[in-house]
Amino acid sequence: MANVYITRMIPQEIIDSLRASHTVEVNPEDRALTREELLRQVRGRDAVITLLTDTIDGEALDAAGPQCRIFANYAVGFNNFDVAAATQRGVIMTNTPGVLDEATATHAWSLLLAAARRIPESERYLRAGLWRGWAPMDFLGQDVDHMTLGIAGLGRIGSQFARKAAAFDMKVIYTDVKPVPEFERQYGATFVDKATLLGEADFLSLHLALTPETRHYIGAAELAAMKPTAVLINAGRGPLVDEQALVAALRNKVIWSAGLDVFEDEPRLAAGLAELDNVVIVPHIASATFRTRLAMGKIAVDNVLSVLRGERPLTCVNPGVLK
Ligand code: DGY
Repeated sequence: MANVYITRMIPQEIIDSLRASHTVEVNPEDRALTREELLRQVRGRDAVITLLTDTIDGEALDAAGPQCRIFANYAVGFNNFDVAAATQRGVIMTNTPGVLDEATATHAWSLLLAAARRIPESERYLRAGLWRGWAPMDFLGQDVDHMTLGIAGLGRIGSQFARKAAAFDMKVIYTDVKPVPEFERQYGATFVDKATLLGEADFLSLHLALTPETRHYIGAAELAAMKPTAVLINAGRGPLVDEQALVAALRNKVIWSAGLDVFEDEPRLAAGLAELDNVVIVPHIASATFRTRLAMGKIAVDNVLSVLRGERPLTCVNPGVLK
């Protein structure tokens, strides 16, 4: 029986499936572990299931000890992992790709529609008792149908996002490290360079992985290059956008509005962001559906079970460590 630690409560049936064959301890608090707690709790474990809020670097790997075989992230994004440090120590790291693409893409669309049609802003107005009846000029928003949709990153999630654009008869343009011909054919998307994407998109949605190269992919200069009527959507990772620059751009109407699921320094928001009416903000919930969170847990547990049996995990992010 191996000794497995889970850094925060995940669906109970997922934990039970692991308990059937191993000793499992779960952080009993409904909050992320502090750094000190994380370093203490991983000590002596054979496997650890982590969240995107847990930084697993050389220090955490060393705290766990040489017997620890796998850190399994309960997320597709793994920018919280120092993959090189794990590879150097022969520790396997895994993520949960594939099962949250549709939920995340649908959520990005929810943000897009909510921002375009000013749903939270007008709801706040109504709830505050300010409505005096139908008015021709109240809460005018942006049309979505037949407009140009820009996508940065046409990977698993970006392509699911593109797929849904057909419902609105949109022109889809995208950029990525290189063209993705199969998605171009499937979703009628056209590859463009970043400058064209910024200049032509009425709606720009970010679906890039966070790497040193994509950090602040959207900053003051990029926002200035967008249309004044444009809407920016980010359901990827907060640091893709320079949040201070975005606050300034929204305040000065450099772009029209934004829809954000993720933030640069979660759970903190950039100063001034929450006071703006032309931004829709929700707390990193793109994959938060019952079915998706179960599926993510199943992959994380399958990875742990495989590694503890001495088998290859399904979704390893550092396959170089696998013999
Ligand atoms: C992920 O999986 O990376 C999301 O941000 C959380 O589901």
